[in-house]
Amino acid sequence: MSTTWLRVVATMVLFACTFTSIVECRIRNYKFNVVMTNATKLCSSKPIVTINGRFPGPTIVAREDDTVTVKVVNHVKYNVSIHWHGVRQLRTGWADGPAYITQCPIQPGGTYLYKFTLTGQRGTLWWHAHVLWLRATVHGSIVILPKLGVPYPFPKPDKEAVVVLGEWWKSDTEAVINQAQKSGQAPNVSDAHTINGNPGPIPNCLANGGYRLHVDLGKTYLLRIVNAALNEELFFKIANHKLTVVEVDALYVKPFTTDTILIAPGQTTNVLLTAGQKAGKYLVAVSPFMEAPIAVDNLTATASLHYSGILTSSAMKLVAPPPKNATSVANTFINSLKSLNSETFPAKVPLNVDHSLFFTIGLGVNPCSTCVNGSRVVADINNITFVMPTTALLQAHYFNISGVFTDDFPSKPLMPYNYTSSTQTMNPATNRGTKLYRLAYNSTVQLVLQDTGMITPESHPVHLHGFNFFVVGRGIGNFDPNKDPENFNLVDPVERNTVGVPTGGWTAIRFKADNPGVWFMHCHLEVHTTWGLKMAFVVDNGEGPNESVIPPPSDLPKC
Ligand code: C2O
Repeated sequence: MSTTWLRVVATMVLFACTFTSIVECRIRNYKFNVVMTNATKLCSSKPIVTINGRFPGPTIVAREDDTVTVKVVNHVKYNVSIHWHGVRQLRTGWADGPAYITQCPIQPGGTYLYKFTLTGQRGTLWWHAHVLWLRATVHGSIVILPKLGVPYPFPKPDKEAVVVLGEWWKSDTEAVINQAQKSGQAPNVSDAHTINGNPGPIPNCLANGGYRLHVDLGKTYLLRIVNAALNEELFFKIANHKLTVVEVDALYVKPFTTDTILIAPGQTTNVLLTAGQKAGKYLVAVSPFMEAPIAVDNLTATASLHYSGILTSSAMKLVAPPPKNATSVANTFINSLKSLNSETFPAKVPLNVDHSLFFTIGLGVNPCSTCVNGSRVVADINNITFVMPTTALLQAHYFNISGVFTDDFPSKPLMPYNYTSSTQTMNPATNRGTKLYRLAYNSTVQLVLQDTGMITPESHPVHLHGFNFFVVGRGIGNFDPNKDPENFNLVDPVERNTVGVPTGGWTAIRFKADNPGVWFMHCHLEVHTTWGLKMAFVVDNGEGPNESVIPPPSDLPKC
């Protein structure tokens, strides 16, 4: 075939991939215009940053092993970058998205083409802005279907629906965080939670009746639930209906049935729901989970399940959300999560550990002469408050630019103390630095994340870019390196990309560093990311042919 013909065929394939799902193809092309949109349906009419004018933003639909391209065009006054949360980005860190970690942000007027392959991944993930607090309104879901002809490892649902949970501020979110950073204190909590962009009826809110999920009696639905909230772990519950959890963070789990799910910011959860109740209207409730004495947005967001044929005027079956400190509800849910660990989807838990790391995570206080109390609340890992560089770390690593970061992140706290004791005498001040931890290609890591009681213990949903990890253990109080590993689950621990470290407790994870590049790890509570609860791993190239970071694309934004 001549090259002209090849080009024509290639163009036709690309066209088909963009505009129809009938033609099966391996490349999915999307265009994301970052624009200001007036959020008229919400509790206040204010301009928000969105993708293509939609809140939540467009869903990306692809199949396992497909290549996705997203052309992002920035029409707003902010720097923008987009992260494909949970996409492994094997060797393609340039497309990962966290600003100043793997790329410089896309400046106003700029564009960038994200291109990545969904190698060996299927399930629900999501995408969000990864700069400033823009992800409050710049987010959406990624639905990765199994390869054509490959069934789910659970009964085929009749229909599927995406349910994106969010948090809404009446005022501009950039103003909220800027004001907090100036004062050195915590930002205002949100004014509502949302379910697919709608809080449901709440006081002083113009929004209408809330999101409705229409169901047919007897049918089964796969709900793909995403927690896109900035700062709050959430409970999700539907009146009179049980939910069967089949997947978290795009990894299959042993199915289990529950009436409440717990989902932290960054996490996704797929559940099967059977419309097997008396035809009617049933309330869906989304409410915060917070054990610590920390202010949260206490409003319950509501949506409803509508059986077909039901009058809109018929009475709603209600449900009470769990109290915000419902630790036992949370624990029951978390302890039920296990990898599917089937023949087709084995749990490949690393059994030998090359790097045994112990990271404390928590808050601190540093002096600040311009702040309200002369001090500023910060957050840290191993007492280091991460300082964002002004050149992207992946570039600095790839091109050997010195002076951007050091690779001396400590493998354990330099000054050990009784981390979770309530009578703390430790100085709450932190060190600052842009420190990374270096890993050889294919080395294995065990990382214990230990919450501290500094200022207050608090639950932290920690997210690792570039990898999935196994959650091999979890406990309350201080981790005991002599006793606790005896109880680790190395057989079928849940595998995921974001894990909630319990309030005043610890979580142990294991992963294999089989992806070269620079990979961000941070608390997915946006306020804690802002405060510095973040670090990164630098994973060196391997020796083999497919074990190196690919060269950067020519349109990679410049700082
Ligand atoms: Cu979903 Cu680094 O984040």
